[in-house]
Amino acid sequence: MSEFTDTGERVASQTAETTTATAALAAEDTRKAKHPVALAFQQISLRSSSAAHSTTSNVQSRIMELAWRQKYSQASAYPFEGGMRVPGDDAVRPVNITVEQKQCGEQDGTGTGAVVWNAAHVLASFLCKESQRGTNHILPSSRVCDLGCGTGLTGLLAAKFCTEATVMCTDIGPVLELTLRNVATNSIPNVAVSEYWWGSGTLGKSCFDVILIADCILPKLYPISPLVEALDELLSDSGVCFVSYEHRVWWEYDPREKFRELCEGKGLVVERITEDRLDDLYRGDDLYVWAVKRYTK
Ligand SMILES: C[S@@+](CC[C@H](N)C(=O)[O-])C[C@H]1O[C@@H](n2cnc3c(N)ncnc32)[C@H](O)[C@@H]1O
Repeated sequence: MSEFTDTGERVASQTAETTTATAALAAEDTRKAKHPVALAFQQISLRSSSAAHSTTSNVQSRIMELAWRQKYSQASAYPFEGGMRVPGDDAVRPVNITVEQKQCGEQDGTGTGAVVWNAAHVLASFLCKESQRGTNHILPSSRVCDLGCGTGLTGLLAAKFCTEATVMCTDIGPVLELTLRNVATNSIPNVAVSEYWWGSGTLGKSCFDVILIADCILPKLYPISPLVEALDELLSDSGVCFVSYEHRVWWEYDPREKFRELCEGKGLVVERITEDRLDDLYRGDDLYVWAVKRYTK
């Protein structure tokens, strides 16, 4: 957190500097406009003021990104507010899910899944935006699984898309008590919770049409290959897995490359979801969403 706060302060002071620089440029432009060679200067100042403007809006969008990323990071509850449009809806309808979080889950044994990670919010917002654009990935017949669900936010959202679809939220250990509480407090009936160790074979084979994975590629903590084993084990032939990933540098290899390589080894194709399909606010340069499908000739 101190890293984020520090960055936030730095960005804020950069904004102040940029604003001062923009004002100075404007004053300079006024002075030059009175000069006999004003025309030539105007051309130059127009170019520089538009560059300053774009720097300012870049900084502002970075501050907005920091703001949403930090907003509930220390809170005991994480509210997700989105909008979805499912077949039969005339308009986008609001969707609200609030999950309980536990701070210090790593220390008390609950594990890393005790809080909502940024990549989970990005994945949830992406699914909402897709539905608003007319693409519903969760259909009445869909069998859906949230792997490494933690608090359960992404699985609970998936269940809201279609009450006839069943959603299986999976994780390991004590965090599942938190997942169960979140299912109960949100009163979402079409969700089941189960312990599942990646690649263990205990959930069956090829049994899910849609798999969600939010921020489970963290080689510093967990090896990537069991996760890919799980994906290969559980994904049906025509199924799709949406994976959200936050990039963190790892000294041994690039986690993005490693994940892609391991998937390819299983005949799974990884395609990056383009920026325009992500939510306008809930995104970041280090946050990715991929669609993984089985390779078909
Ligand atoms: C960083 S958390 C992400 C939680 C949630 N998806 C989110 O984004 O808010 C990673 C999750 O993966 C789970 N996990 C790690 N290794 C696992 C394994 N081998 N089998 C099953 N789950 C595992 C952890 O328990 C944890 O809940």
